[in-house]
Amino acid sequence: MFERMRVLVTGGAGFIGSHFARRLAEAGEDVVVLDKLTYSGNRANLDGASVEFVEGDICDADAVAAAGEGCDAVVNFAAETHVDRSIHGGAEFIETDVLGTYVLIHWARERGARLVQVSTDEVYGDVAEGVSSGEDDPLRPSSPYSASKAGGDLQVLAAVRTYGVDAAITRGSNTYGPNQYPEKIIPLFVTNALDGEPLPLYGDGRQTRDWLHVEDHCAGVERVLREGAAGEVYNVGGGEEVENRDLTRQILELTGADESLVRHVEDRPGHDRRYSVDTSKVQALGWAPEHTLADGLPETVAWYRDNRGWWEPIKSGEYRAYYERQYADRLAP
Ligand code: NAD
Ligand code: TYD
Repeated sequence: MFERMRVLVTGGAGFIGSHFARRLAEAGEDVVVLDKLTYSGNRANLDGASVEFVEGDICDADAVAAAGEGCDAVVNFAAETHVDRSIHGGAEFIETDVLGTYVLIHWARERGARLVQVSTDEVYGDVAEGVSSGEDDPLRPSSPYSASKAGGDLQVLAAVRTYGVDAAITRGSNTYGPNQYPEKIIPLFVTNALDGEPLPLYGDGRQTRDWLHVEDHCAGVERVLREGAAGEVYNVGGGEEVENRDLTRQILELTGADESLVRHVEDRPGHDRRYSVDTSKVQALGWAPEHTLADGLPETVAWYRDNRGWWEPIKSGEYRAYYERQYADRLAP
């Protein structure tokens, strides 16, 4: 597309965005990270990465314009991302995931820059056994989180059609790897298992997620940044569907924790049963996953075992308040 790109990576201090920012910098591109540093944003995720860092909010058009000075593209990872937090409520899901996306769309429009909107397979809602969501399937989000992401996606597609903005969307499946905030199932269960704390498994534990390694997710987003077509949506999925109870069993084995730590607790309201995406479209751009869960999960567990200094400070303060709100009643004897 360009000789050397200068790319604004929003939400680049979070889990997936930090891996992406590092990856793009290592590929020789100029990278500017704009991140509000919410509870899940962490400067340490970018330690040693050759990127410029700007603290700011994607809802703030002036902050976006200043950080985006000279940029050819924006890749938007900035979002409120946790389903359980969205169930507790909070306008920040709509502010960041919809309004923030709108601000980036209009920055891209004015600047003539490319936008890649990083979205999720959760916008399709859950799908029956044997079915995989295609990019043209209807959006049937089940949670306030996925409804907000769907709102952002629709704004992007409308802007492509109405204003000719050069934008594409990726819809990734459940992602895992180092640096994931310990509220999502894998880092929560791994760190709790390492500490001998309970593993709160919702409902019957037979919900299925399609696991995608963070590096494979980033490779898919990079492919779409470089090769994707305006107005197109690309599913990115690992193709590794696992029931939560089987995932939990694997985590117990890898951490050496006792299965008595597993607690079957009250289900998540509106809990999606199964996600699955058809990834043939992004595969046609030359992408394929390079990591399996069989290798990636042990590596991820090892990373959490070796990096207590990263997650122990997180598991205090705001995190404790959230944990109490989410789990105290569920785990009460
Ligand atoms: P994360 O919560 O780890 O990171 C989100 C980042 O966005 C944080 O650094 C936070 O500080 C920043 N942020 C939040 N609000 C902001 C704002 N208003 N302005 C600027 N920065 C802001 O999330 P993640 O898991 O890395 O997810 C990144 C993206 O990928 C999200 O858009 C999410 O919807 C999508 N996604 C995630 C997964 C997954 O399994 N984690 C799967 C598919 C898609
Ligand atoms: P999560 O990691 O929150 O991702 P998402 O809701 O975006 O798929 O949850 C993954 C699955 O794990 C989902 O089916 C809910 C389940 N889960 C639990 O059983 N217990 C927990 O404490 C959490 C956080 C999730």
